[in-house]
Amino acid sequence: MLCLGVETSCDETAVALVEDGRTIRSNLIFSQIEKHQKFGGVVPELAARCHLEVISQLVAEALREAQLSPSAVKLVAATYGPGLIGGLLVGLSLAKALSLAWNVPFIGVNHVEGHLYANFLAHPELEPPLVGLTVSGGHTQLIYMPEHGQYELLGQTRDDAAGEAFDKVARVLGLGYPGGPLLDRLAQTGQPKLTLVKHDALAGTYDFSFSGLKTAVVNLVHNSNQKGEALPAADVAASFQRHVVTVLAERTFRAVTAKKVKTLSLSGGVAANSELRARFAAEAKARGVRLYYPPLALCTDNAAMIAACGYFRYRRNGSSPLDLPVNPRLRFDAM
Ligand code: KG4
Ligand code: ZN
Repeated sequence: MLCLGVETSCDETAVALVEDGRTIRSNLIFSQIEKHQKFGGVVPELAARCHLEVISQLVAEALREAQLSPSAVKLVAATYGPGLIGGLLVGLSLAKALSLAWNVPFIGVNHVEGHLYANFLAHPELEPPLVGLTVSGGHTQLIYMPEHGQYELLGQTRDDAAGEAFDKVARVLGLGYPGGPLLDRLAQTGQPKLTLVKHDALAGTYDFSFSGLKTAVVNLVHNSNQKGEALPAADVAASFQRHVVTVLAERTFRAVTAKKVKTLSLSGGVAANSELRARFAAEAKARGVRLYYPPLALCTDNAAMIAACGYFRYRRNGSSPLDLPVNPRLRFDAM
């Protein structure tokens, strides 16, 4: 069953064609990063307009690239939340229109569940039960998945998402946007010798908080500027990254032990981080846990993961109603 996936929840306009939830026939991503770069972050209204300008063209291109006609498409899936409301509306409206025009079912997909399915797309042998950590620019969620379509939200961020913290800290260090990959590279040249925050107020829970850490870096940068001292930027980057990775690993592996699972899924844009991958790989190996993460291209936002997730969801629960509204604050455990 060929599924067309549409993703417009943030600043990537993406369309993909996926066969049976496992095989990518085309996977197109139009990044708006350049348009938002001069503002140092995503401007929601601008993002929605950009989605509108390119989305129809991307659908035509995806079909052309896969050498398929619209009649081959048997299901249309689109992200309906969480995300930026304007962008979500563009993608969801297009998907509903295509479903009507082509007379095929439509299904709404939760973006964070989509990130998890990037792993099912990349690893055909992957099966629940599992613990999943999704860390991206907009989300930090730790879930337990006993079987397909069933989720227990164990913990999430109380303030900034992990990727958001990377981007903000990169900005105060003058690295540019999006800062995650740039900070990752800089951290490799520094030593994680600075203690940025001493107290973990959420210790013992599965929740995360990154805003205090971010403020600590901002204060450090301002203080050294005021005193006219050179900032050890690489050491700050390495210390910040070490702290984030340590907190993510501590919560996640505690959940793995508590839920007695042997499978761990890591997904989302921050899953591209080199130290995070290395730490999770080492800790998983020490515990005899199988760790899955997607290839880099499927870590960040894409529509192939939305098509894959939509396919599995449709197989289980059938289609979504055509009046399904967008939900910018859609939760992972309330689907
Ligand atoms: O999943 P994604 O494309 O967008 C959301 O759904 O939010 O993730 C993008 C985020 C950005 O914050 C970016 O800085 C971060 O992932 N990111 C990284 C790395 N590569 C991307 N963060 C840390 N290290 C990286 N190597
Ligand atoms: Zn995402």
